[in-house]
Amino acid sequence: MARARRPFFCGNWKLHGSIAESLALATEVRNGVAALREVDVAVGPSFTALAAVAKRLEDGPVAVAAQDCFWEGKGAFTGEVSPAQIADAGCKYVIVGHSERRQLFGELDAAVNLKARAALGAGLLPIICVGETLAERDAGETIGRVQAQLDAALADLSDADLERIVIAYEPVWAIGTGRNATPAQAQEVHRFIRTRVGARAPGLAPRLRILYGGSVKPDNIQALMAEEDVDGGLVGGASLSAESFVRIVKEGSAA
Ligand code: 13P
Repeated sequence: MARARRPFFCGNWKLHGSIAESLALATEVRNGVAALREVDVAVGPSFTALAAVAKRLEDGPVAVAAQDCFWEGKGAFTGEVSPAQIADAGCKYVIVGHSERRQLFGELDAAVNLKARAALGAGLLPIICVGETLAERDAGETIGRVQAQLDAALADLSDADLERIVIAYEPVWAIGTGRNATPAQAQEVHRFIRTRVGARAPGLAPRLRILYGGSVKPDNIQALMAEEDVDGGLVGGASLSAESFVRIVKEGSAA
């Protein structure tokens, strides 16, 4: 059966890689996915490697994602990087609201909204991350937490903006732990996200891409992708090896 949406896999390299290492990995990924047609692929290097990697991947099938952005366009904001600078470096996407930003750097729901809006304003496509902690899941608060994150992140986005977003469901307890959500657990939350966004923009719901992230590996991607509302993956650790990331893209897009 044909997929309702074109699958999308994005590597999030987090804090890894010199420029040379990032170029080598990006090149291997590009070569590995070159023959694939029915899938979108992106890689997410550190800020220092963004421009070089984007240049290397220019006009090819693999896009580049930044891992974060600030919401202001310019000014006295030491250490921050604007969406326009990220676009200028050659990026198509920017990840916003990753749970590591939320948990380790105190990023609040309102900041995620500002970042998503600024990214859209600069012509970037935001990959907006939501997901519950283990304590929230154990307390039965998964849907409530995801709903709150989603509603806050999407506040004041126009219908045209909503057309350009990607959502990533990343349960915090599954990130870097080797413990992925079961396909059924992922499907439940993905379906909820689609329904919730659909309440805002009904026509968009069938087209919205919702990625799963959290210990995605070559050996679990097929089962996840077999779920109706799982449209791809946001891949951390397994994207640091071209061999495993390319396998995820191939097996995930063929599932
Ligand atoms: P892992 O794939 O290493 O669990 O990381 C997931 C993630 O945080 C992607 O953004």
